[in-house]
Amino acid sequence: MLGVTAILTKAAERGLVAAGDDSVPPVDFESIREEFPIKQRRCYLNNASIGALSNPVIAAVDAFLADVRDNGRNNYPNWCQHADTTIKSGIATLIGASVDEIAFVKNTTEGIVTVANGLDWREGDNVVVPDIEYPSNVYCWMKLERRGVELRKVKNRQGRILVDDIAQMIDRRTRLVSLSAVQFSNGFRQDLAATGKLCASRGVLLSLDAIQWVGALTMDVGAYNIDFLSVGGHKWLLAPIGTGFFFCRRSALERLDPPSVGYHSVGKHEDHMDYDLTYRPDAGRFEEALVNFPGIWGLDAAVRIQLALGPSRIERHILDLGTLAADGLLRRGYEIISPQGLGERSGILSFRHPTITAETIAQRLGQAKVDLAVRGGALRISPSYYNDADEIERFLEALPNV
Ligand SMILES: Cc1ncc(COP(=O)(O)O)c(C=O)c1O
Repeated sequence: MLGVTAILTKAAERGLVAAGDDSVPPVDFESIREEFPIKQRRCYLNNASIGALSNPVIAAVDAFLADVRDNGRNNYPNWCQHADTTIKSGIATLIGASVDEIAFVKNTTEGIVTVANGLDWREGDNVVVPDIEYPSNVYCWMKLERRGVELRKVKNRQGRILVDDIAQMIDRRTRLVSLSAVQFSNGFRQDLAATGKLCASRGVLLSLDAIQWVGALTMDVGAYNIDFLSVGGHKWLLAPIGTGFFFCRRSALERLDPPSVGYHSVGKHEDHMDYDLTYRPDAGRFEEALVNFPGIWGLDAAVRIQLALGPSRIERHILDLGTLAADGLLRRGYEIISPQGLGERSGILSFRHPTITAETIAQRLGQAKVDLAVRGGALRISPSYYNDADEIERFLEALPNV
């Protein structure tokens, strides 16, 4: 069995293994489970809200903080170099991007807002957004409405966002389609291949809120023609709160004017008084100043664990746990809310008891040390790679009968 140090070393060795590459021998799921102390305390099935942290992630944050404790600012150039090369390269590998297409952000919302405030909008332009989005992908567009940009809402069909319905909304003034890769309320997984193809064929930019996708499902930004992608670290990546990344496709870089600029937006390093607002040639231009290095060190460890386990194995494991849970729920007479069609499932499974409210059940489960969420009047579980079949059984047994 591989210990965590070995796992992280292996991950580092394999730095450039493509996401979803099954040719690499698996790193043991069992040993990584031991690194999640929450498993000794709770049956935690709420990773789509805030993922539980593992020992290696905390050790990485601690290592950074200890460096500042012991050396102050002396290693600053090394931190910048490490973050911009090694750490971004792990993230880029995870989503099929290049290092220069990644910027650190503090949350998903920051990435989406960068797109909203960075594009050169004209009065009468429009943006197409589904009608069941998390508010992170709503308010920034409502704000643009005040500048004469039209917000076009795609009506969901029983929780699904159909590509044909998006197509109907696009016209010659459409600049952008902005949507969640996986819907937070019901786990509906967008058909990204078809959505990306549609946007590319109509000359419209595509921006994804991918916080409910990356870390649970494999991602390849190139294959899906994605222009912008925003991911917070604190859900499926199991990384610290206050971390995340923003992907800006190289060809879209000049389409976005950084809404917030500072000394990190330019390539001047220590030449602080050589004022020249020429942006860095990469997505790092969206990091206006010092980034959250302690959190990012934790994010790096979390990403390396993902790469070591293998994104496609993680996806399979998570979908298998979802199947186990859905079968058990149906046997017990619960109603499944999440779309279950081919290609529609994700790490999120939403369901309902026919008579007892979701809040009542969530409270009862909490007392039995089983954690889940209530969203839109339904119960929502979101098992991650460290969860296992025994925990799904414990969860099912803790549920009230129908
Ligand atoms: C789809 C979706 N987008 C955005 C967010 C918010 O993420 P952040 O705090 O990283 O901006 C959430 C959180 O629940 C979410 O589910």
